[in-house]
Amino acid sequence: MSEQLIVTNPATGETLAKVTIDSPESIETKLKVGYEAFKTFTKSSAYERAQLLNRWAELIIEDQENLAKIMTEENGKPLTESRGEVVYAASYLTWFAEEAKRLYGRTIPANSTNKRLLVTRQGVGLVAAITPWNFPAAMMTRKAGPALAAGCTFIVKPAEDTPLTMIRLVELAHKAGIPEDVVQIVNGRGADIGPLFTSSPYVRKITFTGSTPVGKQLIKESADTVKHVSMELGGHAPFIICEDADIDYVVTQAIASKFRNAGQTCVCANRFLVHEAVIDEFSEKFAQAAKALKVGNGLEEGVEVGPVINKKGFDKIVAQIEDAKAKGATVLAGGTTHFDDEKGFYFVNPTVLANVTLDMKIMQEETFGPVAPITSFKSDEEAVEIANSTPFGLAAYFFTDNYKRGIYFQENLDFGILGWNDGLPSTAQAPFGGMKESGIGSEGGSEGIEPYLQTKYLSIAGL
Ligand code: SIN
Repeated sequence: MSEQLIVTNPATGETLAKVTIDSPESIETKLKVGYEAFKTFTKSSAYERAQLLNRWAELIIEDQENLAKIMTEENGKPLTESRGEVVYAASYLTWFAEEAKRLYGRTIPANSTNKRLLVTRQGVGLVAAITPWNFPAAMMTRKAGPALAAGCTFIVKPAEDTPLTMIRLVELAHKAGIPEDVVQIVNGRGADIGPLFTSSPYVRKITFTGSTPVGKQLIKESADTVKHVSMELGGHAPFIICEDADIDYVVTQAIASKFRNAGQTCVCANRFLVHEAVIDEFSEKFAQAAKALKVGNGLEEGVEVGPVINKKGFDKIVAQIEDAKAKGATVLAGGTTHFDDEKGFYFVNPTVLANVTLDMKIMQEETFGPVAPITSFKSDEEAVEIANSTPFGLAAYFFTDNYKRGIYFQENLDFGILGWNDGLPSTAQAPFGGMKESGIGSEGGSEGIEPYLQTKYLSIAGL
């Protein structure tokens, strides 16, 4: 019998489904099918592709309640967040449906009258995507949207923890009229499927959202066949609060940025850097707001923070809290957990830590959990130095009503995504991508289609 992935509900530990793992032979066949399908799909018109993407988006929206329930059950996020993610996922498809129509080429003035120089762009070929469990729908459409818009074919491996949302999304893609050989899914473990994707001569591009160590491995493995790579990797977002900011407003943004998806997003605020003049006020108000968040099963009405995804994630979060406490941090909210190893569910109550110092693990490593460490700064230069002091450069936030300070942060923070008085900057029409070890390339925005295209130059002589 073929091997299966056991998909469980992280809020209860109950088994939701068993998903058949694709054998290496079946994956090889699907890769060849996707490679062959590219030869015709790349010749379709941009308008046909836009229509398919728009239809897919419509079906996703029609299926919102069903998709949201599947997502909450397998990922744990509150139902309201899952509903929001369904809309967010569809928005990447409608955005890239329009971008398909703007894949312009250009003509270059030649240096003699009998020549013409033309530049066109076309899809890179079969794209293999590896997507994460924290946004089981949106991280797929953010890749499939531009891939299909560019005329590429697409094969996706969802995270082992959350394949059910993806299975439904792929069904809806086919229902929308996207040929079955143009969008395909394979299931299994990343460690097994990654090397099959990276070594395959049929795959021209790897796109990955996940941890920095896995991203580095995929980049190395892709070198032998010189694949295009897009990497959306780990973050360690600083959230800088200046003394002129409106603290009540900042608290609302900090709660949204930190505790969305139980703190399990790459762009979640991970380090709170607060000016020493307002640290007490901010810490007290923020801790109160964190304590008021309702924790529980995401399917229940009013729940705002669900479980963390699994034991591995839970252990890392708890180790960071323990390390911080051992080195002198004070717990202002939370610091407690609710879990059952036998059943297999893990909750971390929203936690706020004060008196945090830079030598603590939580200030160096990505947390991916509902824990907010707070430390102080005295000057904007010091805030920037602390913010830039890790290898990560995905998202950073700064709160000030002073335009000179805002521009200083914009120019000096080495991060690909900045929120100025904004804790939730992600949107389909803007680029999403990291600097330094947080990634290569941008997703979303007009930038998001570029990594799926290659340039062809034509020189015509003898005219
Ligand atoms: C991520 O965590 O990688 C995605 C978050 C977002 O799109 O806002």
